[in-house]
Amino acid sequence: MSGRIGVTIEPFAMDDFPVVHVLWQRSGLWMRPSDGPEQTLLKLARDPELFLVARDSLGVVVGTVMGGWDGRRAYVYHLAVLPERQRQGIAGRLMDELEARFRRLGALKAKLQIMNDNAASRAFFSARGYELESFCEPWGKQLVAGGAPPSR
Ligand SMILES: CC(C)(COP(=O)(O)OP(=O)(O)OC[C@H]1O[C@@H](n2cnc3c(N)ncnc32)[C@H](O)[C@@H]1OP(=O)(O)O)[C@@H](O)C(=O)NCCC(=O)NCCS
Repeated sequence: MSGRIGVTIEPFAMDDFPVVHVLWQRSGLWMRPSDGPEQTLLKLARDPELFLVARDSLGVVVGTVMGGWDGRRAYVYHLAVLPERQRQGIAGRLMDELEARFRRLGALKAKLQIMNDNAASRAFFSARGYELESFCEPWGKQLVAGGAPPSR
């Protein structure tokens, strides 16, 4: 484990998009068609206070998380930290802040999906008290042709 570093957690702004997009790619997140600038603007219009970035002391964005709240469900998307800044507590700081914001909105539970082969994410969320919910399974339907790779 590397040393902990101090970060500031702030709302994402569209000026951050180019850097955040590279961070998503570099961290190995599964990128979707909805990760372009237009869809990101749609997301930002919906829950601006739940889309967060972590900045280091130089102001560099080193991590992000995107929350979603629809009045019933609180969802976590795109938690990611730069590879060279992982295991320094940054994702923990982002999730502490996001969960606090979810609670203030009245959410009772946070949910997310983890790709089957993502051992680091499983370990991270398990350490935070998240559990695999094997009583249900994710289902989906493409609303726009090419909206998601058919194999996933
Ligand atoms: C998952 C991820 C966000 C964790 O970020 P992070 O900043 O390294 O996490 P933290 O430093 O806050 O870790 C907190 C605790 O989670 C657990 N943990 C985190 N990463 C782990 C790993 N690779 N292996 C085992 N445990 C891990 C540990 O208990 C850790 O505490 P410790 O370092 O004191 O042992 C990061 O690995 C990442 O960006 N992965 C690529 C993107 C991704 O898969 N995102 C999740 C999509 S669902």
